[in-house]
Amino acid sequence: MTELMTSIEQIVRAAGDMMRTAFNAPDRPAYSMKGQQDYLTVTDGAVEQFVREQIARRFPGDGVLGEEAGGLVEGPRLWIVDPIDGTANFARQIPHFCISLGLMVDGVMEAGAIYEPMHDELYIAQHGQGAWLNGRRMRVSTIADLKASTVEVGWSTRIPLDTYLDMAGKAARAGCSVRRAGSGSLGVAYVAAGRTEAYAEAHINAWDVAAGLLLVAEAGGRINDFLANGGVRSGNPVLVTNAALAQEFSAMTGIGLLP
Ligand code: IPD
Repeated sequence: MTELMTSIEQIVRAAGDMMRTAFNAPDRPAYSMKGQQDYLTVTDGAVEQFVREQIARRFPGDGVLGEEAGGLVEGPRLWIVDPIDGTANFARQIPHFCISLGLMVDGVMEAGAIYEPMHDELYIAQHGQGAWLNGRRMRVSTIADLKASTVEVGWSTRIPLDTYLDMAGKAARAGCSVRRAGSGSLGVAYVAAGRTEAYAEAHINAWDVAAGLLLVAEAGGRINDFLANGGVRSGNPVLVTNAALAQEFSAMTGIGLLP
C-alpha cells in the first residue's frame, strides 16, 4: 500500500470511530433538518472538522471541499469529503452510512476511500493500482441479464420527483430489482464490490461520489464523466455500472458513459 493510501485509510478509520461512538451513544444523535428529508447531526460537522485538520497536518497546502463547510474548487490538489453520507440513516439509527474521502489531482481522481464503520468495511482505490474491500481486490459483477440485476436509484429533493419515479419505473419495468438505501457513496461502492450492477441518480454532489467513481473504474466498471462541466462544484447526474450491462443502463437512464 502506498503512503498516500495508508494516510487515507488512517483518516477514514478514525473518522469512522467517531461516527460509531456517536451512533452507539446512549443518547442517540440529535438532528436538525436542513430541508425536506435533509438531516444534519453535530457529528457531520465534527467529522468534517477532524478530516480537515488531518489533511492540513499531513498534506499542507492541499484544498478541501466538504459537504458541511464547503470550500473552493481550485489548485492542483483537492480533497473531496462527505463526513457522513447517509446522514438520514445515521440520525434514524439505521446502520448504513459512511465517510467518503477522495483526492483529485489536476482534475483526475487519484485516490479514494469509503469507510462504513458499522460493518467495518473499507473500500479503497488508487488510480491505476486497483480497488480493494477489506484487503480483497474488488471486481464488478459479471451479471449480464437485467432480469437478474439490481440497481440503486438515488433520490433527493434537488430534482423533480417525476424524474426519480421515471428512472426507477423504467428499471423496475425492465426487470431489475430496484433499491434505495439512502447512501449514494455506499450505493456506488456496492457496484465496485459486485454487490449490485448499477447506481444512478439524476443529480448528486461530488462529495457523495468522487471516491466511489474511482472505486468503480478501478474495479473494471463503467462511469459517466461526472467531474466534467462543473460537476465538482455543482454536482451532476451519476451513473456507474458493471461492464456487462453498461449499454442497457445507459440507455435506460439517458446518462452517457465514458469509454
Ligand atoms: C445523500 C445520500 C442519498 C443521495 C443524495 C445525497 P447525505 O447524501 O447520499 O442517498 O440520494 O443525493 O444527498 O445527505 O446523506 O450526505
